[in-house]
Amino acid sequence: MTTTQPLQTEESLDPQDWDELRGLGHRMVDDLMDYLRTVRNRPVWRPIPAELRARFHGPAPRTPEGAEKAYRDFKEHVLPHPMGNIHPRFWGWVIGTGTPLGALSEMLAAGMNPNMGGGDHVPNHVEAQVLDWCKEMLGYPRSASGLLLSGGSMANLVGLTVARNARAGFDLRRAGVRGAGGPLTVYGSSEMHSSIQKGVELLGLGSDALRIVPVTSAFEIDIAALERMIREDRAAGCRPICVVGNAGTVNTGALDDLEALVALCARERIWLHVDGAFGALAALVPEYRERLAPISSADSLAFDLHKWMYIPFEAGCTLVRDAETHRRAFSLTPNYLTHAERGLAAGDLWFSDYGIQLSRGFRALKVWMSFKENGLDKYGRLVRQNIEQARYLAELVRDAPDLELLAPVPLNIVCFRYVAPGQSDQALDAVNQEILIQLHERGIAVTSNALLQGRFALRVAIVNHRSRLDDFDLLVREVRKIGAELSDLKA
Ligand SMILES: Cc1ncc(COP(=O)(O)O)c(C=O)c1O
Repeated sequence: MTTTQPLQTEESLDPQDWDELRGLGHRMVDDLMDYLRTVRNRPVWRPIPAELRARFHGPAPRTPEGAEKAYRDFKEHVLPHPMGNIHPRFWGWVIGTGTPLGALSEMLAAGMNPNMGGGDHVPNHVEAQVLDWCKEMLGYPRSASGLLLSGGSMANLVGLTVARNARAGFDLRRAGVRGAGGPLTVYGSSEMHSSIQKGVELLGLGSDALRIVPVTSAFEIDIAALERMIREDRAAGCRPICVVGNAGTVNTGALDDLEALVALCARERIWLHVDGAFGALAALVPEYRERLAPISSADSLAFDLHKWMYIPFEAGCTLVRDAETHRRAFSLTPNYLTHAERGLAAGDLWFSDYGIQLSRGFRALKVWMSFKENGLDKYGRLVRQNIEQARYLAELVRDAPDLELLAPVPLNIVCFRYVAPGQSDQALDAVNQEILIQLHERGIAVTSNALLQGRFALRVAIVNHRSRLDDFDLLVREVRKIGAELSDLKA
């Protein structure tokens, strides 16, 4: 039998010298503010030198290096090589910018460090209020439920889970998907985001059960084709459970005809989930309000706060109209999580009953503080500013003889390419791929790409509160310059 030696000294992770850490903290804040204020003066992105990459392959430290050293290493080796998405000329994928106050509020959230799974503490009320504000912003009733999540992919997964369980027609949580007589089918357009397929696969439905509906020339779901597919599936013994509508497709920002989808789903008794990852936020802009009003009639809605609300990563959200249906999909209360009448385990805010996570971070604080800092009207103006910048860029492209617009611009995404006379589509694809890489490598701008009707497009998605019109002038100038250089090389 071994005997335990009493501890000679007890340790903690608090600093031995609080003033020293306070000083370091002040320097961190100063450095960060300088870094953010001067971001425009730096390249958007730079290749990582080989010796810097190698630094990240060393072993874990066994002994303390200290806070000063940890910060010095961060400042010297991490900070100078950002992704670039805080820069005014970052327009790749759909990646938001973040804000200085958002960054500071992350520090406060980590300082309080609550676990947002449940319990009676004020941070939970902060999340509940953020959810209420989101409902108000997007026209959902107060009685709806919601949850903050890591992003749109998780928000889609939660919406799809509720849809599957609600419309399976049997107790799916108990019987599993094998309890269904035939395939449980889900519908969405060919332009829907890959996270929907991931979700359908994770839910055990199988990607074969995800029916890909064709789109119109505006990249919007073809409603007649959708109706036909549902009818044929029913006749073949499938159970259609969910339609996914897009409020802003990832490639071009197309808005499906949501009003038609609401009517169709009500008629067919199918769950309507809307993926409004970024596009839902256009509801803050008066001209788009009517077009987006039907999202408030969807059964569930996924959207991101880290995209077009410029909140630092990570922050996504799901809203579900029928709170009880939402709760039924996830709630599980073992005795060690019993919700109490009094004490810390009391209260009716148990977010763990509405999602997969039990332990959850205080991501609500950065949203709460940012909404208070700016007010919704300002977000509406910024969303509109990005839409107007997209229209401006589209005009520049239309006016340039060597550029071609490849898709309509309904929102904040512009897809275009450089064109040189006499070149095949294949040759143009290669030229535009090289233009994209050179834009990155020269630190000029970050755009990503889309494949539209088989053609490679430079894709500019504007969810950036720092961009200015002259940034788009510069982009067009540089694309044309690089395109001409590449064409000269070929000639
Ligand atoms: C339409 C759409 N849905 C879902 C997602 C996934 O969101 P996230 O990256 O936050 O998981 C994206 C991301 O760009 C998107 O554009």
